[in-house]
Amino acid sequence: MSYSYQVKSLEEYNAAYKKSVEDPEGFWSAIAENFLWRKKWDKVLNWNFTEPSIKWFEGGKLNITENCLDRHLATKADQPAIVWEPNDPKDNKVVLTYKELHFKVCQFAHVLKNNGVKKGDRVCIYMPMVPELAIAVLACARIGAIHSVVFGGFSAQSIADRIQDAQCSTVITADGGFRGSKVIPLKAVIDDALISSPSVKKVIVLSRTHIPVSMINGRDVWWSEEINKVQNADCPAEIMDSEDMLFILYTSGSTGKPKGVVHTCGGYMVYTNYTFVNVFQYQPGDIYFCTADIGWITGHSYIVYGPLSAGATTLMFEGIPTWPDAGRFWEIVDKYKVNILYTAPTAIRSLMGFGLDFVNGKNLSSLRVLGTVGEPINEEAWHWYDDNIGKKKCPIVDTWWQTETAGVLISNIAGITPQKPAHATLPLPGIQPILVDEKGDEVKGNGVSGNLCIKFPWPSIIRTTYGDHERCRQNYFATYKNLYFTGDGALRDEQGNYRITGRVDDVLNVSGHRIGTAEVENAINMHTGVVESAVVGYPHDIKGQGIYAFVIFNGNMDDKELLKHGIVQTVAKVIGAIAKPDKIQFVSGLPKTRSGKIMRRILRKIAEGETSNLGDTTTLLDPAVVEEIKNGRI
Ligand code: PRX
Repeated sequence: MSYSYQVKSLEEYNAAYKKSVEDPEGFWSAIAENFLWRKKWDKVLNWNFTEPSIKWFEGGKLNITENCLDRHLATKADQPAIVWEPNDPKDNKVVLTYKELHFKVCQFAHVLKNNGVKKGDRVCIYMPMVPELAIAVLACARIGAIHSVVFGGFSAQSIADRIQDAQCSTVITADGGFRGSKVIPLKAVIDDALISSPSVKKVIVLSRTHIPVSMINGRDVWWSEEINKVQNADCPAEIMDSEDMLFILYTSGSTGKPKGVVHTCGGYMVYTNYTFVNVFQYQPGDIYFCTADIGWITGHSYIVYGPLSAGATTLMFEGIPTWPDAGRFWEIVDKYKVNILYTAPTAIRSLMGFGLDFVNGKNLSSLRVLGTVGEPINEEAWHWYDDNIGKKKCPIVDTWWQTETAGVLISNIAGITPQKPAHATLPLPGIQPILVDEKGDEVKGNGVSGNLCIKFPWPSIIRTTYGDHERCRQNYFATYKNLYFTGDGALRDEQGNYRITGRVDDVLNVSGHRIGTAEVENAINMHTGVVESAVVGYPHDIKGQGIYAFVIFNGNMDDKELLKHGIVQTVAKVIGAIAKPDKIQFVSGLPKTRSGKIMRRILRKIAEGETSNLGDTTTLLDPAVVEEIKNGRI
């Protein structure tokens, strides 16, 4: 049985999967033939998981923007590449054809060069969801600069940490951003971040909201003025090695500060394209709408690079799902006749809560495929999505993947492989999952559970954590020998379908956003009077997980509500609003072992509302503290 680039039947999936395991190099080199390479690779794959050292398409030369833009110009010059829906539905949409997007990317690439940006330089991008964000990302890739996009909800401190870690020379931002009824002062946040970021020499500022901003002489320039200086927008693409860095994206781990996940040009391009075309069963002419923000990996891979490399029309949305009302997504689907909709379970759960009045009356008949990403989807939300949005005729792809994997690893393929509510189902071609127990022994057979690992590299696997390769090794490759450890737990049912159950480390998933408990604790501990804190997750109806903080406070506690508010504000200042604790409980002590380790297992159970069966507490230094915490539970 042979198979095509886009698998078209269960038999083709099985054949592609078999080939990908038996002959990974043959499989991926045939896939990679479908791209524009300036020079073909010398070796398909060179790898070990011990250092780790992973190289795909070694010796190959390319530029990803030639694959996303130039190569479509012959046949798709006038096809929309990006369709942009503004925050305010009364404002005008923007449509950029491939020809126009190509022009604007090349033009802005000149702006970057004119402002001293060179191949290999790191550029921090902190922007709202406007077309210029995609243009900035692609312009960096055009000239070989490494972009580090920071989500617009992060604080000045978080931006400064990321800028310093990557030693960025340039920041691209906007005066502000619209989010529903709010205006977010992005440039002012950047100004704060730059007080402690001396590596930054230039800030390019897009005017979006027209709020007043301070422009520092010699450092800050306006996007539009710089564009006006470009005489000739011709900009040949910088020819990159397959393993040259394409971007850094920071993500939370169980310890320390967020780490800069590094992805490289060739493998990332091949894998995001292959998975986009296959998982969603993209058809030429489709209107594809991914509701993520480009500040996260989903936006990088499945708003920008995957769809554009496939010559698709990708819809970018600036606003939020609940403004002006909770029918906004469905209105957009109706307005643009969206065929493929990709969103997060947290959005579905939130919109479910507003009732069907916001869905009824919208024409959703253009929809052919639905997708979810970012966290486990509960069966209730899955069925609501299936019944009311897909009208039971659209397959739902439950795509499991991570910032580190850069593309979907486990998912059903729309209409091709079987779906099962709340299950990511089967690995995509090229992906070899394995479940292991705590000792690292393989859990074989079906109807089992374990820690999810992957035993063979795929083209877009994490290459390193920026500036600290040892951290990459420790985090992902040291827990279990010769395996990539995902940090997730999973069940494998009798048919071999995977169901991802959630993180098994100290990482929370709040509304699909990844947040380390240690990060939140560090932020809380910065609040004056806080002696110590411990943060755990608990089930939350809409967010998936909520943040529960146990805090030891030394000082005046007359007004506990005011104090809690202050602590929440401190977290927002240090990390960003997404990390605000939902519940704060003041305690006199934390359950610790005699060696001083906090027993989070106990705190997690209490936060989850389980107060009777707390397991063994005899090894605690002070068992009495558990009673107090149980009694004070919020
Ligand atoms: O726990 C898994 C969860 O999100 C984590 C990765 O988060 P991040 O790197 O921010 O990337 C999110 C977008 C890909 C995973 O370790 N996760 C992601 N997708 C799913 C999921 N959990 C269950 N089902 C999914 N479909």
